[in-house]
Amino acid sequence: MSRLISDRGLNRRAFLRATRGLAVLAPTLGITGGLLAGCSGPRRVERIAIEPGMAFLREPDRPATPIWGYQAQVPGPVLRYRQGEFLDIDFVNRLTEPSSVHWHGLRLPNAMDGVAHITQPPIAAGGSFRYSFQLKDAGSYWYHPHFNSAEQVDRGLSGALIVEEPEPPLVDREWVWLLDDWRLDDAGRPIADYDDPTQRAAEGRLGDLVTINGAPPGAHEVRAGERIRLRLINAANARIFALSFAGHVPQIIAYDGQPVAPHAPDDGKILLAPSQRVDLMLDLTGEPGGHHDILSQFETQAAISLGALVYRNETPLRDAPLSAPIALPANPLGEPDLTDPLEISVNFQRDGAAMLWTVNGVAHLGHDAPPLFEVASGRTVAMHLHNDSDFLHPIHLHGFPFRILERGFAPNPRQEWRDTVLIGRREAVEIAFVAEAPGDWMIHCHILEHQAAGMMHRFRVA
Ligand code: C2O
Ligand code: CU
Ligand code: CU
Repeated sequence: MSRLISDRGLNRRAFLRATRGLAVLAPTLGITGGLLAGCSGPRRVERIAIEPGMAFLREPDRPATPIWGYQAQVPGPVLRYRQGEFLDIDFVNRLTEPSSVHWHGLRLPNAMDGVAHITQPPIAAGGSFRYSFQLKDAGSYWYHPHFNSAEQVDRGLSGALIVEEPEPPLVDREWVWLLDDWRLDDAGRPIADYDDPTQRAAEGRLGDLVTINGAPPGAHEVRAGERIRLRLINAANARIFALSFAGHVPQIIAYDGQPVAPHAPDDGKILLAPSQRVDLMLDLTGEPGGHHDILSQFETQAAISLGALVYRNETPLRDAPLSAPIALPANPLGEPDLTDPLEISVNFQRDGAAMLWTVNGVAHLGHDAPPLFEVASGRTVAMHLHNDSDFLHPIHLHGFPFRILERGFAPNPRQEWRDTVLIGRREAVEIAFVAEAPGDWMIHCHILEHQAAGMMHRFRVA
């Protein structure tokens, strides 16, 4: 049992080893140790630059790629806090165009949501903006621009935001994998056809180069017997991943940061639509010396390698998987009250002639249209989301995680919380949430080319 990592300090060191190659903002590690959730510890303002850089996304002997990154790196630094702490970060924009920083999946004051033109003016080139808010919910989140998103996210502006539970489940290590795909020319430059209407009117920008944390997938070294918590984040503009771990049965413990009763993936595949996250518990039950492929194979698309679990030739860490519980404590979300909800229908369609996507018949190319609806803070909203098209759409709501009540008019067995729901072709989904913080909040497709081609709207909490 001496190998068990029950001590916070050990856990942090293990985390640091696990994220080798990923820069972690040191102060967020340094100042937070020992603070309990909700404690008013020392608040220190970090500084992150939004700036161009170079990254080796392919094998090191091939040309590097010019990127835009947080701290000029791809992905941006892993931001790590404990539940209840405050995030205080000054973002300095060193690009030659405006930007903004959106905190995907978090409950926060509207003015901190980072939607350019809606919740704040764009951060001008050379300008800066301070984001400052409390982290109410534990979980795996991410941050990215909400200005010219299809291009800025694609060029590399994305990073993980991890909010730890006060008592995280016992693991030996933790991995954070930010998945992305890239469309590069031979010289390694992103193919800059961001305005291509046919791409927008179809599946969106699919790149043929897949990376994990900005590097080509390779061997993921493990030791037999260990337990790893794997936080998966899909930062791709349009690619849907469907992951399988040969020879292993990972347990899903959270969707989009929100805990769910642990369960094996349905159909053996872990589905991750753009912007979605899945937290897994992975018990390394293979033999020393073993090699197990990790693949993504969605629908009829070609299988993509995400590397392999490669077991070191070492004696197993333990003989049977850890018996420690893997379920996560729930976040303090308000439970929807379905006795008298505000009922809203949203219909998503493709306007093939105009190469646009519409929400209730209108393509929103700017932010000047009046809100889709207005609701009083504290009231439950029940939304009927109908995908009236032959394409898939990951529909995302800002501000409020929602429960998925029904799919295709059948009750959804898990009633899981999410911030993004993948809606199948011609499928309808019923969701509900409690409108909380006042302000204008976005609802949009997270295939960023669809969003750019009109598939977005906003709603008002008053
Ligand atoms: Cu990932 Cu509107 O956001
Ligand atoms: Cu978001
Ligand atoms: Cu879409």
